[in-house]
Amino acid sequence: MTDTSIESLDYFLTTTKQVRRRLDLTRQVPTNVVLECIDLASRAPIGGNLERNRWLLVENADTRQALADIYARFGRGYLEAGREQVESMGNDPTATRVVESSLHLLEHLHEVPLMIIPIRLDRPGTSIFDHATYWGSVTPGVWSLQLALRSRGIGSAWTTLHLQHEQDAAELLGLPASVTQIALLPTAYFTGNNFHPARRKPAQEITYYNRWKEPVPKTP
Ligand SMILES: Cc1cc2nc3c(=O)[nH]c(=O)nc-3n(C[C@H](O)[C@H](O)[C@H](O)COP(=O)(O)O)c2cc1C
Repeated sequence: MTDTSIESLDYFLTTTKQVRRRLDLTRQVPTNVVLECIDLASRAPIGGNLERNRWLLVENADTRQALADIYARFGRGYLEAGREQVESMGNDPTATRVVESSLHLLEHLHEVPLMIIPIRLDRPGTSIFDHATYWGSVTPGVWSLQLALRSRGIGSAWTTLHLQHEQDAAELLGLPASVTQIALLPTAYFTGNNFHPARRKPAQEITYYNRWKEPVPKTP
């Protein structure tokens, strides 16, 4: 790999963020571009090589409005409680940014031109093994999709608040009880392109070596 390709991959990995405020609500997202990104996302790891992931693209305005209503039914109270909590704890800038942009998205969700719903053809089992295999077989693909969209100027946000009313969304979308909605990605071209890397704890602080809580030796 060349230095340039490493640099550009690192750039996309560090600056692909949840896009909420900067979604361009006026511009359609071409379906062929989304399908191209889904082809890329399908290359992500899947347990047992079983292709049980599906995607539902929602463009119909009435359906988007209905999904936004389902999202807000739980989401509004949840996020407003989150805002109060952030205020009571001194308005930490990152927490404030996340809660305020989440509320912004909630208010405009019905206007976002495309909603992408990743779907599994089965339901999760109960053991940790079942869960690890199940979620681990779908989340890498969703993240690949977000990266592929991002590299084409299209932003998305991983959301799940509508799943508090999973049944209502399933009925609206005609989904059988045997399948599972994984998330809802409001998707649109983004405006501007100055995404900053998210602030996260350094690797040295969150990584252990050979045994729980043993620090990784520092290399010279
Ligand atoms: C599993 C999962 C569920 C999430 N659900 C929502 C949601 O329903 N609504 C929302 O606005 N953000 C949601 N988020 C985004 C997070 O609240 C948070 O903004 C994000 O992880 C911060 O990333 P950023 O630094 O890219 O902004 C979700 C993220 C994940 C990983």
